[in-house]
Amino acid sequence: MTIRILSTSPLVGSSLQGLGRSFPELAIAPFRSHAWNAGLATAAALVVMLSEPLTAADLDQAPLLEVIGTYSVGTNHLPLEACKARGIRIVSTPGVLTDATADLALAMLLGLTRRLADGEELTRSGGWKGWAPDQLLGTGLAGKSCGILGSGPIGRAFARRVSALGMTPLFWARADRTPVDYGFGTAPRLPLAELLPASAVLSLHCPLTAETRGLLSREALQRLPAGAFIINAARGGILDEAAAIRMLHQGTLGGVGLDVYEGEPAINPEWFTAPRAILLPHLGSATLETRSAMAELLCDGIGATLGGKLG
Ligand code: DGY
Repeated sequence: MTIRILSTSPLVGSSLQGLGRSFPELAIAPFRSHAWNAGLATAAALVVMLSEPLTAADLDQAPLLEVIGTYSVGTNHLPLEACKARGIRIVSTPGVLTDATADLALAMLLGLTRRLADGEELTRSGGWKGWAPDQLLGTGLAGKSCGILGSGPIGRAFARRVSALGMTPLFWARADRTPVDYGFGTAPRLPLAELLPASAVLSLHCPLTAETRGLLSREALQRLPAGAFIINAARGGILDEAAAIRMLHQGTLGGVGLDVYEGEPAINPEWFTAPRAILLPHLGSATLETRSAMAELLCDGIGATLGGKLG
């Protein structure tokens, strides 16, 4: 049988059915399994996860390919240039995971600054002997500035959240210096060299590209004020993790909240003993509502591309 849509995710199959779509030629196969590799030859659409990197060589094996759907807003795992050169459309899931991702970044920030994990451990261990004026003191956020890398929908949604806490959002300026309208007001764009020293909190919401890979190098991190907090719900590879771990041990960073890692799902084991770190398993978009909306968007985009060719 001709395989037209080749997906690594059974969820996508059930989403298609849930939407009442009839995509009869859907094959589900684990990424890079024998069935997956064989299916490339006849696939008109591929559906992959952000953890399944495709290469230009995969496209060579897929002469009928018209569209790649990725169950993510990020597309750094796809051979974008090769797709463009071959006229292969990419369908991702922008928009629908904005709030979920910004919420998770905020949860990490509050978890770090108010020491939620320490408090939980003290309570559950039975070690809590009662209220004390100096017990588990955290760090207040109101009146401080929050640097945001990325002025897209997620960065702007995060700006709204921190401004509701009384913080001043500041955005990273690339070429464009126009202030960013983030919905509750406008915020300036500053070059990295000015943004970093002004940021009591630095939150990453930009895609991983050639420009942002390694952007937060050891040198860049040293420009942050003492005790700054870093939140990364964007992509590993933007932050120099080894440098951040060293700074946590030295006490020069207030805390680091990570939802993403260079080389994930492998994690630098030094994170497990780093003080004042919150480590999450890439949960940014993980709400029922968001994941359903992502599936729907993906199916719509694939359906629109393949149009009448499907039953
Ligand atoms: C994405 O969709 O790229 C996000 O990282 C998922 O959480």
